[in-house]
Amino acid sequence: MDLYDKDVVSIRDFTKDQIEGVLDLAEEMVPYALGEKRSRALDGRILGNLFFEPSTRTKLSFESAAYRLGCQVIDVSEMSMTSISKGETLADTIKMVDTYCDTIVLRHPYEGAARLAAKFSENPVINAGDGAGSHPTQTLLDLFTMREAKGTLEGLNIALVGDLKYGRTVHSLADALTMFGAKLTLVAPESLQMPDDIVKHLEEKGCHPVKTAELDDVIGQADVLYVTRIQRERFPDHAEYTKVAGTYRIDNAILREAKSDMIVMHPLPRVDEIAPEVDSTPHARYFKQAFNGVPVRMALLCSIMGGELRWRPPWSSSCRRSGTARSSTISPAGRP
Ligand code: NCD
Repeated sequence: MDLYDKDVVSIRDFTKDQIEGVLDLAEEMVPYALGEKRSRALDGRILGNLFFEPSTRTKLSFESAAYRLGCQVIDVSEMSMTSISKGETLADTIKMVDTYCDTIVLRHPYEGAARLAAKFSENPVINAGDGAGSHPTQTLLDLFTMREAKGTLEGLNIALVGDLKYGRTVHSLADALTMFGAKLTLVAPESLQMPDDIVKHLEEKGCHPVKTAELDDVIGQADVLYVTRIQRERFPDHAEYTKVAGTYRIDNAILREAKSDMIVMHPLPRVDEIAPEVDSTPHARYFKQAFNGVPVRMALLCSIMGGELRWRPPWSSSCRRSGTARSSTISPAGRP
């Protein structure tokens, strides 16, 4: 199934083939992301970046991806600077922004916000993180980074470490890794373990993750250690946060137990989960991972917005709309 004109609300919206198609296209995008080659694949198009929660990597890498493709960006970074602060609903805001751009990227503190936005937008909506919900585009770049390092995504032994309850990146990532037959170990204190509904979904898809609080017991078998920040801002009670803050810290001493080719990933920002001394070891992949957000988001934007480099599955000879331009009328054509 083609990604042209599609919303990206959850990684569950993708098939395994679609994910692999985006990752393959992202490989082709690397020289463009580095500025070594030039593309105007999305010339004349406009991306609307709505970030209603703090962001460095996701926002800037979407912007960089757009500009590298000749796409213009309009953006809002604070809810207080929009009419939402005057009482406007998210639905109304989205309906307006929809008429100003061709695709909307939304980060929002509430789980389900992207799904709601997709309902009210004629143009595609990309979820850039909805509260403690999910973060599908982070997952694509995480998978890209793993495939780049390991040569395959099939059957990897992956330990997800830290805040698996509130961490949206690991919710999406666990779902996606299940499609690739990963062996998942969920390393978290009991109070921050992966939500039951997600574990149930993984099990229905044939993945039977092992839960533990002991990192020492699993580090030796892992191909990938995916470390996350304890999501302080999502705790209803600060006292609960202080009980679990600093539970895991990856340093060179603990890495002595790891396989020599084990990689350490982190969606960033890190607080104190990974000691700076790890940065210069061959295990560290988190800064490369952050760069990978650019080629991966370039591939995604091209696939969704219909640039010349957009990914099409091998069996699709034509796209739904002819040409690459969307409707030029003020009110965009209805989505199929
Ligand atoms: C993550 C997020 O916002 O969910 N960051 C990111 O997008 N790279 C992780 C985090 O904030 O801990």
